[in-house]
Amino acid sequence: MSESTQVSRDPVGQAESTRAQRYWWDREAADYYTEHGAFLGDAGFIWGPEGWSEADLGLLGPGGVAPKGPVLEIGAGAAQCSRWLRARGTTVVASDLSGGMLAQSQAIDWAAAQPVPLVQCDGARLPFAEAAFEVVFTAYGVVPFVADSARVMREAARVLCPGGRFVFATTHPIRWAFPDVPGAAGLTAHQSYWDTRPYVERDHRGEVTYVEHHRTLGERVREIVAAGLVLLDLVEPQWPERNEQEWGGWSPTRGRVLPGTAIFVCGKPPADVS
Ligand SMILES: C[S@@+](CC[C@H](N)C(=O)[O-])C[C@H]1O[C@@H](n2cnc3c(N)ncnc32)[C@H](O)[C@@H]1O
Repeated sequence: MSESTQVSRDPVGQAESTRAQRYWWDREAADYYTEHGAFLGDAGFIWGPEGWSEADLGLLGPGGVAPKGPVLEIGAGAAQCSRWLRARGTTVVASDLSGGMLAQSQAIDWAAAQPVPLVQCDGARLPFAEAAFEVVFTAYGVVPFVADSARVMREAARVLCPGGRFVFATTHPIRWAFPDVPGAAGLTAHQSYWDTRPYVERDHRGEVTYVEHHRTLGERVREIVAAGLVLLDLVEPQWPERNEQEWGGWSPTRGRVLPGTAIFVCGKPPADVS
């Protein structure tokens, strides 16, 4: 964040938010990979800063079995999770709004015989047919970055086949009541959990350059249910002793006391439920 960045909490609509995300992630893509690439692993599947993997949690399929596919990753970044699935025989497509983030995936795969298939698209406007996928998922992509997250739920539900799963990890909503810093100051609530105005950064011209959107737990569940999905589980991974690494405002200090990540495991009901 530069010195001229202005920070506020005020409403930002879907179009402005999407434009800002694309700008921000294109610009940050290389630095994000430099900072977090080793922690994520080029072919790793990490659900969030706590460091829990899909191999640990097994959320994409019943019994923790990796799905056969087709699987769609939204907000995939450098597509590490898709690469992990592909190595296990899953048919997978990785998508992201940012060409810069997808270019990081291409850089990882530059010599690969079978690179991860990539599609550049907005997670709130998926260019795929109805019922095209067995699983849709994202590890911290899309959901915290769109104004209209209800639309993301509806799009995931639309492209899922009956009986399919939508699994997404996002910032735990309780974090919005606390300062986003890794140290002890991040343990004292200083604002209302119910204030759902987004966090906004603007440049010296007043242009929005970065936004994060907040939903309370209840609002999130209502968006899931309104999309016709069923909430199968809400996973709040605890901070493991082995992880001493900070990631922005996520840290061992805070992780021992507060949840940092919420992983929503949603199902699309089977076609015949009678
Ligand atoms: C925190 S990164 C997570 C990337 C990856 N899942 C990981 O674990 O490293 C957030 C990602 O969401 C993407 N993103 C933000 N808004 C999006 C949108 N509306 N549609 C699709 N992707 C979006 C960004 O481009 C970025 O790659």
